[in-house]
Amino acid sequence: MNKSPLLTVSDLHKQFTAPSGELHILRGVEFELNEGEFLAIVGESGSGKSTMLQILGTLEQPDSGKILLDGEMIHGLASNRQAHLRNKKIGFVYQAHHLIPELTALENVVLPLLVQGMSSADANQRGRELLARLQLEARTEHIPAKLSGGEAQRVAVARSLVARPRLLLADEPTGNLDEKTAQEVFGLLQQLCIEENAAVVMVTHSLSLARSCDRLLRLHDGQLFSDPG
Ligand SMILES: Nc1ncnc2c1ncn2[C@@H]1O[C@H](COP(=O)(O)OP(=O)(O)OP(=O)(O)O)[C@@H](O)[C@H]1O
Ligand SMILES: [Mg+2]
Repeated sequence: MNKSPLLTVSDLHKQFTAPSGELHILRGVEFELNEGEFLAIVGESGSGKSTMLQILGTLEQPDSGKILLDGEMIHGLASNRQAHLRNKKIGFVYQAHHLIPELTALENVVLPLLVQGMSSADANQRGRELLARLQLEARTEHIPAKLSGGEAQRVAVARSLVARPRLLLADEPTGNLDEKTAQEVFGLLQQLCIEENAAVVMVTHSLSLARSCDRLLRLHDGQLFSDPG
């Protein structure tokens, strides 16, 4: 059972140039994530949590450092290889659902599968199954404007996992929801990730949600620390 980690991050650095000077946001981020593990990241606003997730998701370049996903370096690849790897292995959920307003819940969820060339019959079957597991079987034909905040966020969760990514990157996925709805959406997200065997890096401002994850790390002064609680 003790295999090499799914994700290994070593000595990650990132600076931004601002009018006030250089901002050295990430200063040697290091961690490992095991297959299926659910890791929470907390830290003050502006500490670099979203920047770190964007880099892990290959949407932003680090200045230096090494990231291995499933044994493969994910930076320094040709852009088409990087996009392929991202589509195949990484899912994203954000604070806002970013669903396409003209498409129904089901159409939003299956879009990544259709882009990958799956037949619409197979894609719809997988999409309906995920929506049902998120207790949305009665909402498949709704457009996002006709969904509640919690429902829209659950549709975004279904979309993020539909293509069976090994790694889910979640940036404050329940940040726009009231506490009770946040708990429910988080519970369903956690359950679905276990069933789908997806490892998760979730940024959150909620210490109570963070504490119910497998592990909690705090981003502070550009580095990750284990949190005493
Ligand atoms: N493209 C950019 N150019 C310049 N500065 C940036 C850029 N992106 C982020 N920053 C700065 O980097 C710092 C970290 O930003 P980031 O969004 O990663 O913080 P965060 O921890 O996610 O904060 P929050 O909890 O508020 O979402 C901030 O000071 C931000 O202003
Ligand atoms: Mg952020």
